[in-house]
Amino acid sequence: MSQWVSVCALSGLDDPGAHGFSHGDDAWPLHGFVVYIGGELHAWVNRCPHAGHRLDWAPHRFLTRDRRLVMCASHGAVFEPNTGLCVGGPCPGARLTRLPVRVNAAGDVEVDAAAAQAH
Ligand code: FES
Repeated sequence: MSQWVSVCALSGLDDPGAHGFSHGDDAWPLHGFVVYIGGELHAWVNRCPHAGHRLDWAPHRFLTRDRRLVMCASHGAVFEPNTGLCVGGPCPGARLTRLPVRVNAAGDVEVDAAAAQAH
């Protein structure tokens, strides 16, 4: 069963750009983020496959300085924004966990929070 939750307005995202979100109860929230790049949206669980940390040291700051890759602020792992594949740093070959993402009729970016519960 899907549980689509609104994350942000598509019009509020830069291309390339990223936006973090949390959803759910205080004890066990889902932390995730969306990346908008090349006109495509991708959504990922905000948990680094290296040591399980959240990727953003500062809120919503998920991208490298040139905005071409996702970067974990803890130990510098970098990931392709469209595949989630780690291409540098301490966990090459590992992957971020993808979340289903869509844009609703009102132009809001929505993520299926239920998909994360399988992980
Ligand atoms: S926890 Fe992300 S690189 Fe170590």
